[in-house]
Amino acid sequence: LQNGNIIAAAQEERFSRRKGDPRFPINAVRYCLDEKKIAAIDLDYIVFYDDPRLKFNRILETYFAFAPRGVDTFVEAMNEWVKKKLFLKRVIAHEIRGLNETIPDNCPPIEFCSHHLSHAASAFYPSPFHQASVLCLDGVGEWTTTSVWSGEGNKLNLEWELQFPHSLGLLYSAFTYYTGFRVNFGEYKLMGLAPYGDPKYVSIILDELVDLKDDGTFRLNMEYFDFPVGFTMTNNKFHELFGGPPRKPESKITQKEMDIARSIQDVTEEIIVRIARTIRCEQQNEYLCIAGGVGLNAVANGRILKEELFKDIWIQPASGDAGGSLGAAYAHWFDFLKHSRSANGMDQMQGAYLGPSYSQESI
Ligand SMILES: [Fe+2]
Repeated sequence: LQNGNIIAAAQEERFSRRKGDPRFPINAVRYCLDEKKIAAIDLDYIVFYDDPRLKFNRILETYFAFAPRGVDTFVEAMNEWVKKKLFLKRVIAHEIRGLNETIPDNCPPIEFCSHHLSHAASAFYPSPFHQASVLCLDGVGEWTTTSVWSGEGNKLNLEWELQFPHSLGLLYSAFTYYTGFRVNFGEYKLMGLAPYGDPKYVSIILDELVDLKDDGTFRLNMEYFDFPVGFTMTNNKFHELFGGPPRKPESKITQKEMDIARSIQDVTEEIIVRIARTIRCEQQNEYLCIAGGVGLNAVANGRILKEELFKDIWIQPASGDAGGSLGAAYAHWFDFLKHSRSANGMDQMQGAYLGPSYSQESI
């Protein structure tokens, strides 16, 4: 951001051509800076899209709660945290200094923005609305999995939230895993499979897995899930409930997977629509903004539109964590530095094409 306006945004995978590239996004950083010929040393702030200390705290508490289960994944997780993630400021400073050797020891200040504030900011601040409700649904950040905000001008207020392990994103990913797709990547395939199936398993999901309240809040029955401390999303009890082990990746897709896809899609839509109704009752806002990985479920978003609860909705196109970086920068500019904001009815993203463009010749 420059003076609160978006200069550029890009995902590392667009440069490295490795889907969901988990490495430090140095190519994306370089591109964003080059777009306006900005030197790294001239940055006022670098803002990261979650708080690693809080996240580490959640992971530790989860392992303690489930102990002695999860010893093997604990060792693996700690290895990564102790080597890298706990020292994120050091990692970021090191990489940024590497862009330009003239940067002195104290590189631009590095700040952390909580994960769901990053999502909420990515949905509200670039939206055309001066005043709106904001719904964020994802797998998990630090603790929060579902958050509802009210936004006005340059302010975002957290109204309420649900916390780990009760997560709609992780529930959906559990079914992504069970139907043989890759978690965090294949969710769109599960959504695409849904219209081929019948909602045969909806009552099983609602009777056994999800305790769904009228207001859309919910709790997962953790007897069926392994994701807090296991290597897999679901356990044997879950597999027995649905009549067998998960589909082997790349094996034939059967009617069962289609019916399961349809069922979890229907449950997801039901949860989202109930929460949207609750938000409309609790807040007097005519507009709704959406972000978080579940915000990529376009079919569920369509349901909210059809319900006509809101005059209009605005969805962050990069609803998943990719958009969190934009939100973190926005949150710092408006929420922390308190700059004024005029929404002026315009989409501040001006579409979603914020990355590099290529000439005919180079293509
Ligand atoms: Fe997220």
